[in-house]
Amino acid sequence: MNESSNMRRIYVFDTTLRDGEQSPGCTMNLRDKLLVAEHLEALRVDIIEAGFAIASSGDFESVKAIAGVVKEAAVASLCRALPKDIDCAWEAVRGAKHPRIHTFIATSPIHMACKLKMEPDAVYDQAVAMVRHARNLCGDVEFSLEDCSRSERPFIYRVVEGVIAAGAGTVNIPDTVGYAVPEQFGELISDIRRHVPNIDKARIAVHCHNDLGLAVANSLAAVRAGADQVECTINGIGERAGNAALEEIVMALHTRREFFQAETNIDTSKIYATSRCVMTVTGSRVQANKAIVGENAFAHEAGIHQHGVLANPLTYEIMTPESIGLPRNKMVLGKHSGRHAFESRLNELGFHLEEARLNELFGKFKDLADRKKTVSDADIEALAHDVQTMITERVKLDRYNVTASNAITPVSTIRLLRDGKLVEHVAASDGPINASFKAINQLLGLKVTLESFQLNAITGGTDAQCEATVRVRDGERVYHGRGISTDVIEGSILAYLQALNVLLDESTDKRVGA
Ligand code: KIV
Ligand code: ZN
Repeated sequence: MNESSNMRRIYVFDTTLRDGEQSPGCTMNLRDKLLVAEHLEALRVDIIEAGFAIASSGDFESVKAIAGVVKEAAVASLCRALPKDIDCAWEAVRGAKHPRIHTFIATSPIHMACKLKMEPDAVYDQAVAMVRHARNLCGDVEFSLEDCSRSERPFIYRVVEGVIAAGAGTVNIPDTVGYAVPEQFGELISDIRRHVPNIDKARIAVHCHNDLGLAVANSLAAVRAGADQVECTINGIGERAGNAALEEIVMALHTRREFFQAETNIDTSKIYATSRCVMTVTGSRVQANKAIVGENAFAHEAGIHQHGVLANPLTYEIMTPESIGLPRNKMVLGKHSGRHAFESRLNELGFHLEEARLNELFGKFKDLADRKKTVSDADIEALAHDVQTMITERVKLDRYNVTASNAITPVSTIRLLRDGKLVEHVAASDGPINASFKAINQLLGLKVTLESFQLNAITGGTDAQCEATVRVRDGERVYHGRGISTDVIEGSILAYLQALNVLLDESTDKRVGA
């Protein structure tokens, strides 16, 4: 039974690095973005939207860098339908093997009147002219009708027809504000297919936001109605309530293939590793009961369920953990585990490191295994992420000493190794971690703002490692750091230093380039 021949191909457009990154708390630096892009390639998404090139010089540089390394997927930059935006997007993506310009303008009455202050005719003319302009630069142009789900049908048909005639190969129908419901959204796609005479000359994309929790349902209804491309993000990160989650759309299409009569090119076994990578670099974890990638998504706690699953996994499982790259029988690693077992676990988790980095990581694993009875996947991922991001340690923690109680002002003494020299400073503040951060700032002469700070236990138990994540702002730039330790204060200091190391590294790069 080979049903593949009748299957429609659905293109997966990932916008984790643009719409996802745009949401508060999910800002990524260039290293993080490159790492995510590497995972997205392994996942085999069709298009990677790498950023909004004109938004800032940092965005431009990261789109350009991603365009330079991605081999198979198309790389897109978003741009408003304005000549300078489009030219900038083109400069950023032109080095890609498959560049795409993604331009947009709003088409709903409220957006045209209140935001653009333009008449519909002027919006139409600008959309068509800008698609033409983009097509003169790039063979692959996508056009989005922002707030399309709240736009008027006749105007939608007119704009879609016009931009296709001007050369748009993909026309995107966004539910920008997450207002649509599945039946209605599916109908919109069918109506566009019926009323736009040249619709067969372009692919229809959909881009759904999750304000009513319906982003995935709306995307799937659109696929049923004939949409060819779905726009989504890993873990559903994105503006406000987020975007449609890639892993949910893909696994729904995969698991219910016969119903949808559609398939993607995604390697589903890379979903888990990609999801973990995005959680790690953004410091934004998904809830335990999140579909597909939540901690409990494949956990069967109830006795009756466990019994059924042991007898036959299909009793309670509609998809296997292996299908998303989550091994059913996790090997327990500890201090007696050899290099081979360690390396194969790392590969299963999506990390492929060259020899030197693997050796470094194996050393760190052994140190940790000496301190902990068993080393979990989360422990390994945390260690691997730090090694993989290759952060140059311009400053390193030599030691710290904290005096704290609820009766005195906490004091922290920090000793750092900086450019081969030990430097030390003491600071007092309202908490031991705050005092430590203050001492570090004063030692390094930095005036940065701590925007967010989180502590999580990576695994349960009293010997659990803690994972500290920080977000630090220096003017326009934002830096993330993670630190892991069985000691919460040490973990926090390591996270802070990691963020500052990226900052110091970048300022050195700028000086060298100046
Ligand atoms: O939500 C939206 O409308 C967008 C477009 C710019 C594609 O992100
Ligand atoms: Zn969006």
